Amino acid sequence: KMSMHLYEMSSKLIGDTVGKVHDNLTTVVLAASFITLSLGYISKLLLSQPCLKDAQKYPPYIPSSIPFLGHAISFGKSPIEFLENAYEKYGPVFSFTMVGNTFTYLLGSEATLLFNSRNEDLNAEDVYSRLTTPVFGKGVAYDVPNPIFLEQKKMLKTGLNIARFKEHVKIIEAETREYFQRWGDSGERNLFEALSELIILTASSCLHGREIRSLLDERVAQLYADLDGGFTHAAWLLPGWLPLPSFRKRDRAHQEIKNIFFKVIQKRRKSGENTDDILQTLIDATYKDGRPLSDNEIAGMLIGLLLAGQHTSSTTSWMGFFLARDQAVQERCYAEQKAVCGQDLPPLTFDQLKELSLLERCLKETLRLRPPIMTMMRMARSPQTAAGYTIPVGHQVCVSPTVNHRLYDAWEQRLEFQPDRYLHDNPAAGEKFAYIPFGAGRHRCIGENFAYVQIKTIWSTLLRMYQFDLADGYFPSINYTTMIHTPHNPVIRYKRRSE
Ligand code: HEM
Repeated sequence: KMSMHLYEMSSKLIGDTVGKVHDNLTTVVLAASFITLSLGYISKLLLSQPCLKDAQKYPPYIPSSIPFLGHAISFGKSPIEFLENAYEKYGPVFSFTMVGNTFTYLLGSEATLLFNSRNEDLNAEDVYSRLTTPVFGKGVAYDVPNPIFLEQKKMLKTGLNIARFKEHVKIIEAETREYFQRWGDSGERNLFEALSELIILTASSCLHGREIRSLLDERVAQLYADLDGGFTHAAWLLPGWLPLPSFRKRDRAHQEIKNIFFKVIQKRRKSGENTDDILQTLIDATYKDGRPLSDNEIAGMLIGLLLAGQHTSSTTSWMGFFLARDQAVQERCYAEQKAVCGQDLPPLTFDQLKELSLLERCLKETLRLRPPIMTMMRMARSPQTAAGYTIPVGHQVCVSPTVNHRLYDAWEQRLEFQPDRYLHDNPAAGEKFAYIPFGAGRHRCIGENFAYVQIKTIWSTLLRMYQFDLADGYFPSINYTTMIHTPHNPVIRYKRRSE
C-alpha cells in the first residue's frame, strides 16, 4: 500500500512536470529521474522482493544503481540491445526494474509460459486497461472480463470474412490510387505520414462502413489522431487522473467520436436496410446469453478496429523502405504483379492477391524485422514457473516478438531482409515461438488476415504506380520513443513507372 502511495506521489510530480513538455518516454523518464532520486532509498526498501522458500529461486535480477527508475533510461534508449545483452549475460529469463515496476522477460521458447497461461494467472487487463480503456471506452476489450472480450473478438472475426475481403481489395486499391494522386510523378516524401493517413481512410471504409467513411474529413481525422495520441508511455506509466494536455485531448476526442458513431448506429438500426458490412455484423451479433451489443459497445469496438489497424501503417512503411533498399527484390515484386495479374495490370482481385507469394514473403519478413508490437505483457497474479525460476506475484511478465524474431540460434543472417528464407522449410531452426508478430494463445490477434489484405493491396498498387528508392541512400533508423516503433525521418524517393 505504502509503496503504491509513494508511486502515485512521485508519478504526480512527474506528470506535472512533463505535462508542460512532451509525453514521450525520454521526457517522462528524465523528469522522473530528477524528482524521484530523493525517494529512491525508501522505495528501494519498499519495492525489494519478498523472501522465497528455500527450494525456490527468483529469476536473475539485473541490478541498477539508479533507485526507483532502474533501467528506464538505457531500456528507453535502445530496448532491443538492452534485452539482447541481458539474454547473453543472464539467459532467457531475467528481471529488472523500471519506474518502480519489475519486469520479467521470457525470451525464446520460454514464451510458452505466457502464451499457454490462463488469463487469471497472467493477466492482460491489469497491464493494458489503463492505456486502452480511455481510448476504446468502457464495456469492451480490457475493460470487461476476458470471457466477454473473447466473445467480442469472435464477433469481430465473423465480420472479417473472405466475402468482405473481396470487397475490401477493391476499396483499398481505389483509396490508394486516389490518395497518392497528390504525390505526382516523382519526388521525395514522408512515407509514414502518407500511409498513416491512407490507412485511416481504408480502415474506415472497410471496417466502419460507408456512412462513417463519408463523415471522415480533416476534423474527424484530427479526432482520431488525438485518440491515438492516448497511446503513449506517459499514459501507461502515469496515473490517469493527471491533468496532462494529451489526456484531455484524448478524452474529448473519445467523446466526440462516440457521439458521431452513436448517430450512425442509431440511423442504421432504424433504417432496416440490410447492408453487408462489419457494422451490420456487430448490430446483429449477440452474446452467448442472447444479449445484443449496446450502441456503446459497438462504438467502442469500431474505435478499437480503427486504432488496431494503425499498427499496420508502421509495418506498411517499413516494407517500403526494405523494398527501396533492395532494388532486385522490388523489381521481382513488380514482375510478379504482371506474371500473376496480367501484363496490362488490371484491377486487383482477392484471388490474385493470394498468389502474390513473393510480395507476401516480403511482408512476412518485414513483420519479422519490424513487428509493430515490441512487447506483449501480463501481470503475474499468481506465482509462475519458468526455466526453473519462480516469478512472484506482481511482476509484469513480458514476451518480445522483436527479440524472438532475431535469435542468434534460430535465424540465419538474422538481421538481413531475406524474403526468400521462407521458401525453405523451417526457417527458424525449429525454435518454438521464433515468429510471433501476431502473438499466440487466447490473446492472439484477429486482424492478421485483414492486415495482410490491406498491406498487400496497398503495396501492389504502389509498386504498379512507382519505383521507389532510398533518398540519398538513407535507410531510417528505429524511433523507439513511440509505443509502436516507427521509422525515424521516413522520407522515401519515388518515380512514376513509365511502362
Ligand atoms: C500488422 C498488423 C497487426 C499486428 C502485427 C498485430 C499484432 C497483434 C498482437 C501481437 C496481438 C497480441 C497482443 C497480446 O497478446 O498482448 C494482437 C492482438 C489483437 N489484435 Fe492485432 N495486430 C495487427 C493488426 C490488427 C488489426 C487490423 C486488428 C483489427 C481488425 C487487430 C485486432 C486485434 C485484437 C482484437 C487483438 C486481441 C487482443 C487480446 O485478445 O488481448 N489487430 N495483435
